Amino acid sequence: MPLSNMAVRDIETVIHPYTNLARHREVGPLILNEGRGIYLYDDQGKRYIEGMAGLWCTALGYGNREIAEAGAEALRKISFTHAFSGKSHDGVIALSEKLKEIAPCPASKVLFGTSGSEANDMQIKLSWYYNNARGKREKKKIISRVRAYHGVTIASASLTGLPWVHNDFDLPIASVLHTSCPHYYRFGRDGETEDEFSQRMADDLEQLILREGPDTVAAFIGEPLMGAGGVLMPPKGYWEKVNAILARYDIRFIADEVICGFGRTGNWFGSTTMGMKPHSISMAKAITSAYFPLSALTIEEDLYQAMLDESRKLGTFGHGFTYTAHPVGCAISLKTIEIYERDKIMEHAARMSPVFQMRLRKLAEHPLVGEARGVGLIGAVELVADKATKRPFDPKKMVGASTVNAMQELGLIVRNIQDSVALCPPLIITTDEIHEMFDLFEKGLDRMEAWARTENARAA
Ligand SMILES: Cc1ncc(COP(=O)(O)O)c(C=O)c1O
Repeated sequence: MPLSNMAVRDIETVIHPYTNLARHREVGPLILNEGRGIYLYDDQGKRYIEGMAGLWCTALGYGNREIAEAGAEALRKISFTHAFSGKSHDGVIALSEKLKEIAPCPASKVLFGTSGSEANDMQIKLSWYYNNARGKREKKKIISRVRAYHGVTIASASLTGLPWVHNDFDLPIASVLHTSCPHYYRFGRDGETEDEFSQRMADDLEQLILREGPDTVAAFIGEPLMGAGGVLMPPKGYWEKVNAILARYDIRFIADEVICGFGRTGNWFGSTTMGMKPHSISMAKAITSAYFPLSALTIEEDLYQAMLDESRKLGTFGHGFTYTAHPVGCAISLKTIEIYERDKIMEHAARMSPVFQMRLRKLAEHPLVGEARGVGLIGAVELVADKATKRPFDPKKMVGASTVNAMQELGLIVRNIQDSVALCPPLIITTDEIHEMFDLFEKGLDRMEAWARTENARAA
């Protein structure tokens, strides 16, 4: 099909993140201009189920008028005020109180940004600041994990453990280290039980800390489950072991709740679902249901006291963005959280989870699927050439990307991470809509299976 005028204009003007820029010149964009509930509509009027909640973020779906009105009201009242030099506003005070109340870890204060990357970037800065204040000037390394996703600024991209985020960007920076990825299906050894694997992953972490020297390690960051690395579930007992190791070596534990926060796993926070005991959490995405770019991190009392000490010594706290605690973002977040509580969205997500997980797990029977994994209202299938040996497809065949395209043609938007295909619908999804979504997903897999057979795509 020839590209539309709008598509040509896009190609000539827009740089698209996480897009094959060369291929984009041939295939053009998918232009989505409207959304209602869990559905999106393209510029030709075609309807899609948004199976990825945008980018794991539109928890309350599209077109929520109450949230739009809360934003409009804030814009009318005060379009902008900042938080520098002690300035404040009602919204940031109320929102900070609310986030402290619902956080899964003891929180003394809240600091705002506009993206998940910024929140994690600030976590690194504050971990360094903390240890300078405590006189532990050597304790600066940050441990992340292979296949983690924590963002794309220079520091948060360094935390991310995916090669395509580092390649030719001269990343990661030297102070960031990566420990093993705890994905049992892919990295478990022959004959190794899940418990044994979990112990090996914990041992890897502890050995890395001991090799580097505990006095050089400031913090560890982890997502409750690894979202953009492929929806990788932690093995049984993993977080319990990690909690103990980090406590043993006085290492600050940061939980990246950017995807898991606000109901995704069936609880308010993934830390609760997974039994993590973090000192601090990073939040973004569903904090506003993506109606406004806003992120936040909690500051524990010890860190706050260290920041006060530094302030007594240095004067000003030398950090802040123009849009830190933007009043429109705060108003939208407050309204979003009010709706989560009033409409019992966490309870709804927990009720929908068994339906979603039942359909997801059934996909494991499909000839293309090696593993179907997930929790709450998030999941993924890993497509393999050989189910028995877990042999992946030749990456050049781009099976994951082609599967996403096949599903898009059928009217379902999902996302691939190499040959894993993720599902993460808005939390407001109903039982009927879950079935509609999985019916399309299965149809898409069947199309790919037919393709794999005719193209002999399983050949090694
Ligand atoms: C767990 C996690 N942390 C951080 C980020 C980065 O957030 P942002 O894209 O808002 O910078 C993401 C984005 O997907 C994420 O999934």
